[in-house]
Amino acid sequence: MSDTPEISPEAVDAAVHAALAAIAAASSTTELKAARSAHSAEASPLAQLNAQLRNVPNDRKAEFGKLMGQARGRVGQALAAREAELAESETAAKLEAERIDITAVGSRARVGARHPISLLQEQVADIFVGMGWEIAEGPELEHEWFNFDALNFDVDHPARQMQDTFFVDPVERHLVMRTHTSPVQVRSMLEREIPIYVLCPGRVYRTDEFDATHLPVFTQFEGLVVDKGITMAHLKGTLDHAARVLFGPEAKTRFRSNFFPFTEPSAELDLWHPTFKGGARWIEWGGCGMINANVLRAAGIDPEEYSGFAFGMGIERTLMFRSDVQDMRDMAEGDIRFSEQFGMVV
Ligand code: PHE
Repeated sequence: MSDTPEISPEAVDAAVHAALAAIAAASSTTELKAARSAHSAEASPLAQLNAQLRNVPNDRKAEFGKLMGQARGRVGQALAAREAELAESETAAKLEAERIDITAVGSRARVGARHPISLLQEQVADIFVGMGWEIAEGPELEHEWFNFDALNFDVDHPARQMQDTFFVDPVERHLVMRTHTSPVQVRSMLEREIPIYVLCPGRVYRTDEFDATHLPVFTQFEGLVVDKGITMAHLKGTLDHAARVLFGPEAKTRFRSNFFPFTEPSAELDLWHPTFKGGARWIEWGGCGMINANVLRAAGIDPEEYSGFAFGMGIERTLMFRSDVQDMRDMAEGDIRFSEQFGMVV
């Protein structure tokens, strides 16, 4: 403490000036903290001068006391003011550094769209699930037995040639790309307990041309019911319901006599499309019928005890006249601009 000058107005003034200069020079709260401990804390010149008050002769005590009080007041105020200033500018700098330009154009991932075939497939599935049916599945690479034999197609039945089939090498393995979803009828009857109420949407394959109304790979939905006392009236009522959900309250179906080896009687199924572009009209929609007794027998079901119905429709065709799609190839080419028109709902 020997280097501390003796208390005097000049010495106090010098200490105050040194303190004020250091405070003004502090350019961060850390520097200000250092200035505070050097110039106003316990070991600071100002504190040491203050300590000398007790040695001041009594008649000058009041004068020096006031001097010290003022000096400490000035330094205290300067510290507080600088502290506020620095805090403010540091906050401002931090905000500036963390600034985000919310008007900047972001790099946005392009939103895709569900394919309308998937959407329609789900909507059809919902109609039947809503009636308590289950969804059934089967393989797209199918054994010939499921695709033809078990469905009552004779080995040289003309119907077998009717279907232009992709046979898969080696032919001795009897594998085909399924030509319809009907093999799932057989699989369902073999795997499930009666009563059976199933819908099977899925892809099928035929050696068709790729043109506006044909695709070599397309989608069908197959319905199958096996229960006691099932009649054609149940089939008709079920299809009318599905038609109304998909095409509006005025939609209905009609049957035209037809032949399929796996149903008897069989019918071509027409749909009354009340809002068809170009005017309400009948449109060929699919095939249906009562399960042929031979098919029930092939699946180990007694046709004396049980009966059932089945139907099969093409999803692409349904989408075509439901949403007025002119060319089926648009459904296969995967151009997002096509899918986007359907949004996320059909
Ligand atoms: N599988 C037939 C077809 O693809 C449609 C059908 C299904 C017919 C069920 C009757 C019963 O043409």
